[in-house]
Amino acid sequence: MLVLGIDTSCDDTSVAIFESESGKLLSDRVSSDIELHAQFGGVVPEIAARQHLEIIIPMISNAFDEAGIAPDPDTIDLIAATRGPGLIGGLLVGLGCAKALSLGWNVPFVGVNHLEGHLISAALSQDIPYPHIAMVVSGGHSEIYRANSPADYILLGETRDDAAGELLDKVGRLLDIPFPAGPTIDRWALDPENGKSPVRFPRPLLNKTDNIEFSFSGLKTACLYFLRSDESANVRREIIGAEVFRAAVDCLLGKAFLASDRENLSTIIISGGVAASSYLKREAEKRASDENKKVIFPEKRHCTDNAAMIALAGLYKFEKYGPDTFDLDCDSSITVGN
Ligand code: KG4
Ligand code: ZN
Repeated sequence: MLVLGIDTSCDDTSVAIFESESGKLLSDRVSSDIELHAQFGGVVPEIAARQHLEIIIPMISNAFDEAGIAPDPDTIDLIAATRGPGLIGGLLVGLGCAKALSLGWNVPFVGVNHLEGHLISAALSQDIPYPHIAMVVSGGHSEIYRANSPADYILLGETRDDAAGELLDKVGRLLDIPFPAGPTIDRWALDPENGKSPVRFPRPLLNKTDNIEFSFSGLKTACLYFLRSDESANVRREIIGAEVFRAAVDCLLGKAFLASDRENLSTIIISGGVAASSYLKREAEKRASDENKKVIFPEKRHCTDNAAMIALAGLYKFEKYGPDTFDLDCDSSITVGN
């Protein structure tokens, strides 16, 4: 099967062509519009939607060129586009485009849950065992699942307030880091120069072993109060950012490994934009080796938003449930399994 994948859930416009027999990506492109949004300190939904509309067709056309195949019904077997969660304007562009191509070419289409894309993204580059613990950490989500099979996830716990990526981006604003702040804070956390902090931020809920939940908004507030205090006057912002991330990573790994103990599953797969962090990866691998467990990360380019993961998740959905119908709508707050 040849699957055309489309993701327009946030600011990036992504198109991929996935060949299931070889497991190869014939095209895998992400067009980032981050400079357009950075000046506003975050993604502006209206600008993102207009940008998707402008470039989605040229990007699809380029994907076919790159794959060396003709853009017609004889080549593509399935069209998969994100239907949620995400920003509604962008979702409408991607899903509408998938429906139009499906109608014009008479090729089946499926609407895909963006989070199920992240949850399967590691399988684009390696074999992954089932069942396993799956943690998705992105700009909008911090959730831990038991993954029984590619389209069968049981939610074990999630954040009560902000997502981990949202925490980094909000703290980034306090520390004057261009949006998105995750990659910069990751670099700071890796630098041993920033390892000794005069302040230790709280690790919310970490010691509560009766739940698999996160709470990151208090961590942001603790950082804000520290920055307002006299104590912060002589502390470099790199040290503060690194300490915030260390606290967040302690919480993320604490709960992921707790879930692995509880479910008696020794493999933990971590995906989503924050999984692109080399610091998180290093700490996860250290802990896994200490506890005789295994952590798996997607390739870095497939941690952040991409259409390759949507093509793969779409293929699994299609195999299990068949095609969607044209009355399928976008849903900006859809949960996994829907
Ligand atoms: O999955 P993603 O691309 O979009 C959403 O679905 O939200 O995740 C974006 C988030 C942002 O908060 C960004 O700051 C964070 O992922 N991020 C990182 C890194 N690259 C992106 N966080 C830590 N380290 C990174 N290298
Ligand atoms: Zn995402």
